[in-house]
Amino acid sequence: MSRPQAVSNMVPDYEVRLLLNPTAVLSAEHDLVATVLSAFEMPLISTKMNIQFLDNSLKELYAANWSARIRKVENEDNLELTYKKRYAIIGGHVEAALTAANNDDFNAGDAKYEAQVEWGYQKQTLSVSRKKMVADPGRTGMDLPGTSNSRQLLIDNAPNKFDNWRPNKWGTSTLSVSRIFGPVFARRSVGLWNDMTLYLEIWPLLNVEGTGVEYTVEASFKTKSHKKASCEQANLATYLQSKGWLLAQDSLKTQLIMERY
Ligand SMILES: *[C@@H]1O[C@H](CO)[C@@H](O)[C@H](O)[C@H]1NC(C)=O
Repeated sequence: MSRPQAVSNMVPDYEVRLLLNPTAVLSAEHDLVATVLSAFEMPLISTKMNIQFLDNSLKELYAANWSARIRKVENEDNLELTYKKRYAIIGGHVEAALTAANNDDFNAGDAKYEAQVEWGYQKQTLSVSRKKMVADPGRTGMDLPGTSNSRQLLIDNAPNKFDNWRPNKWGTSTLSVSRIFGPVFARRSVGLWNDMTLYLEIWPLLNVEGTGVEYTVEASFKTKSHKKASCEQANLATYLQSKGWLLAQDSLKTQLIMERY
């Protein structure tokens, strides 16, 4: 018997994400203050994004480290569907996480999936995701589809590896009894830092009590280089710290949405 051909690991890009202290960087109206905008050469205009996740009441997708997301970005006609699997990166060993993904059949031979190292303040996570753009059935501006349309869109477009992660069409049967987690109406500003494109996103999330809103502000940039990600992550953290803007903890946006909505 011939052994199966080993296919090489996916090649990830890197997204560095650091949190900013909302009290230090947001005005009373929850906009970025002028010193932050000017530090990153950002215009006053930001782009709106509306985001929601679907999962069943037991959050089985989330428990399996999968997520199914629908996003609408201002001025884009399509809805963006994302099916994402997360792998922990332990002790900075990116290659070990890529190998774990490869063992699950996510490898360099499948160009439809993208690998990304989400590099936070301390934690790194590998995500393997498949994106699909679909026509917005409602064409309703920034509104996202309701439960039944959202389920249907995510079911109709579900990739096989997601659906067949477990037997009996696990992915789509979970989605068929899912509910919405969210939506979260976020805003993104685009600027420059150290010759790189830098994004600042403001995510109003429900607070723990569910009685009000708590703002998460995240700075991020992307690079294909591990070395650059590592180096500039440290530089950006130092810079934000020097300005008194850094919130020295890892971002938990998705976790908070799954917990609070
Ligand atoms: C999900 O990821 C966490 C680490 O982030 C890991 O401890 C856990 O075993 C994973 N769960 C599954 C079902 O893969």
